[in-house]
Amino acid sequence: MNGFLNWIEQRIPMMRVANMHAIQYPAPVNMNFWYVFGFLATIVLVNQIVTGIWLTMNFEPSAERAFFSVEYIMREIDFGWLIRYMHSTGASAFFIVVYMHMFRGMIYGSYQKPRELLWVFGMLIYLALMAEAFMGYVLPWGQMSYWGAQVIVSLFSAIPVIGPDLVIWIQGDYVISGATLNRFFALHVIALPLVIVILVFLHIIALHEVGSNNPDGIAIKHKKGSLAEEDKTKYKIHEYYTDKYDIADDVVPFFPHIVLKDLVAFSIFLGGFAYIMFFAPEMGGYFLEHPNFEIANPLKTPEHIFPVWYFTPFYAILKAVPDKLFGVLAMFGAIAALFALPWVDRGSVRSWRYRSGLHTWNLIIFAIVFIFLGYLGGTPQADWKIVASQILTVMYFGFFGLLWIYSKNEKTKPVPERITK
Ligand code: HEM
Repeated sequence: MNGFLNWIEQRIPMMRVANMHAIQYPAPVNMNFWYVFGFLATIVLVNQIVTGIWLTMNFEPSAERAFFSVEYIMREIDFGWLIRYMHSTGASAFFIVVYMHMFRGMIYGSYQKPRELLWVFGMLIYLALMAEAFMGYVLPWGQMSYWGAQVIVSLFSAIPVIGPDLVIWIQGDYVISGATLNRFFALHVIALPLVIVILVFLHIIALHEVGSNNPDGIAIKHKKGSLAEEDKTKYKIHEYYTDKYDIADDVVPFFPHIVLKDLVAFSIFLGGFAYIMFFAPEMGGYFLEHPNFEIANPLKTPEHIFPVWYFTPFYAILKAVPDKLFGVLAMFGAIAALFALPWVDRGSVRSWRYRSGLHTWNLIIFAIVFIFLGYLGGTPQADWKIVASQILTVMYFGFFGLLWIYSKNEKTKPVPERITK
């Protein structure tokens, strides 16, 4: 067996890569609750791909058959209902996990130097994920699929000069039709998953090049020769890291230490996931919206059109601005601001543990504003809600403006030299 494994290893470095990027990867010992979401996002990604392949085997991407093929999967195919609910629950779970993952990056300053590119890859994943989820939602060809697509695609018509032609190009027709459904299917099942998988790969490579941040926001890798022998890690860490740096002794190898933490998180996550999947797959209309149980009807507009919950904060920003073009710009601006975070934050201390009280409050208020915008974008319009979403839109951008101003000369607390265990 050993001979055979060696034969393989000499031809393709499987164990070397596994040791370098998983088993002997140096992980900070203080990785906490917030650090499980990257692992969970990876699990959900695998779930989406596997269940997606099985759904594709019976789904028919045409305006005539799409809705009924989903019904067929639900009622006739063995365990079709399970596969579909794994996929639809997985979509919402993906965004819950990714939002937690992003907020972790914000509270511990994981986007700061030298992790800017890692953050940018993360944001690209987030964009691709939004496109993927949007197109997936169109496929069952229910009322919300159709009218949601109508609202989102028509946003492009606000672009001066090329807008109207661009909409026709995207739709592949003069209206949203079977042609649109068919191309969204192609993008949803192959193009975007491929892009996402490649981006996740780059995300991990970028992470491992610079190393994981941690709740203290301090370095675990030090310049070669700068640490005394007793301060270096006693664990077996891959030479790739120890050749270039001195690794401090507050590091553990990823396997088994972090894997065990991740597995505890996974089992709790699985409990919640299974509960929703078996007992509340629609989640009161949040995960699967009620109008989508009715087949798309271009002659009947639903009473209220909302995107699924994970888009509603941005939808509220769009609606807060009276002008269509400026609304679209504000919405894209809200995402662009997140992209720019590594350069907006001019501070040198990463973790909120050692930053000013103002920073902590700025982060907490930002999270509340985001959730409240989500509520406003996902419930029927009312006059007060327009005013509220305008105030909250200003507060959303205010987070970035304030951060830019105070981070330059922020009064921070003393940062420890070594991780506090
Ligand atoms: C499919 C989606 C994603 C997957 C599978 C994924 C995967 C991972 C994994 C496995 C890690 C290492 C474990 C951890 O720190 O949790 C990680 C770290 C990180 N991710 Fe992601 N990620 C995704 C999306 C994002 C997004 C949308 C962002 C932000 C825009 C992001 C930003 C980061 C950052 C900053 C780190 C380093 C955190 C630190 O070391 O403190 N990721 N990611």
